[in-house]
Amino acid sequence: MKNIMITGGAGFIGSHVVRLFVNKYPEYNIINVDKLTYAGNLCNLLDIENKSNYKFVKADICDLDNMITLFKEYSIDGVIHLAAESHVDRSIKDPLIFAQTNVMGTLALLQAAKLSWEGNFPGKLFYHISTDEVYGSLGFDGTFFTEDTSYDPHSPYSASKAASDHFVRAYNDTYGMATVVTNCSNNYGPYQFPEKLIPLFINNIRQGKPLPVYGKGENVRDWLYVVDHARAIDVIFHKGRIGDTYNIGGFNEWTNIDLIKVIIKTVDKLLGNPEGESLNLITYVTDRAGHDLRYAIDSNKLKTELGWEPSLQFEEGIEETVSWYLENQEWMDNITSGEYEKYYSEMYK
Ligand code: NAD
Ligand code: TYD
Repeated sequence: MKNIMITGGAGFIGSHVVRLFVNKYPEYNIINVDKLTYAGNLCNLLDIENKSNYKFVKADICDLDNMITLFKEYSIDGVIHLAAESHVDRSIKDPLIFAQTNVMGTLALLQAAKLSWEGNFPGKLFYHISTDEVYGSLGFDGTFFTEDTSYDPHSPYSASKAASDHFVRAYNDTYGMATVVTNCSNNYGPYQFPEKLIPLFINNIRQGKPLPVYGKGENVRDWLYVVDHARAIDVIFHKGRIGDTYNIGGFNEWTNIDLIKVIIKTVDKLLGNPEGESLNLITYVTDRAGHDLRYAIDSNKLKTELGWEPSLQFEEGIEETVSWYLENQEWMDNITSGEYEKYYSEMYK
């Protein structure tokens, strides 16, 4: 495969995937297709934007005609699809855009791939990036989500991702298009939009602002360093079994409140504050509606079949992450001030 379309490449995970592929595979052409919603930020890619094997195209995946044009123009033979609305709290406030982007957008992209590749499917691949949230919620019973766990989404976000996963598999079953789906746990690391727990809290601690903990802070999430997710995507894109599903996770469960205490400790240490100084910023607030209690991924299939394992211990990953946000305050301030949206708006109208 030579010409790879990565959708959502200006977002958090997508930017790490673009960076990895552009640097590791100079023989590939990487076409980053992103609408630049509030979550898209081309400043995430400043280090690779001038590479000769990289091209950015501002486009909406929901626009079928334009997607067909792009498949043709760039002779696309592989897709890594990450573009999505991704924040649960936003999906509770405005579910329609989640159905539009995540369901209809994925369907438009699938249809563009089918129309472009039909009669010539060998060597083509549509790789869809999804979430463990489609599996619903676990109890505190030590069980895990496996690839055979039934779908049971609870939020408009996870419902829309579940629907998109079903459409991807339907294109494999019905039309014989080569697809693969992966369901990953919560990611953390550089370039995450500061509406998500970890960057939001690092920034609030830096500014002495309250840390809004939903409910009792007892919900459990399974955290994976974003670069390890990008490494898994690389392995699965090249070696994954066609038509199959892989769970991606780091066997790294934390209750929110314990995680928040680690973040506070790390930020206070790196800022030279007295230990525990920012603990008083913890503020318990009304719980998120339909808040899933626990996510935990069993990624043994990926380890056994394809040899992937996380490269970073959590303690190391979180320290690197906190350091990155503290050292890149300009990146953060550009977002919180809204400046980042003006940055490229003239260039890409
Ligand atoms: P993000 O919100 O940071 O980025 C999403 C990107 O998609 C943005 O650049 C945005 O501009 C783009 N986009 C949105 N709508 C678009 C459209 N209509 N057309 C083209 N581009 C559009 O998201 P993320 O956290 O990087 O997540 C990427 C993918 O990974 C999503 O599919 C998400 O469901 C999945 N995922 C995320 C996590 C996580 O912890 N963040 C975990 C598992 C899976
Ligand atoms: P989030 O980063 O939004 O990811 P997701 O909802 O996809 O898991 O939230 C992670 C956890 O942190 C989740 O249990 C909700 C909780 N949370 C808070 O307690 N306060 C906050 O301000 C945010 C954004 C999240």
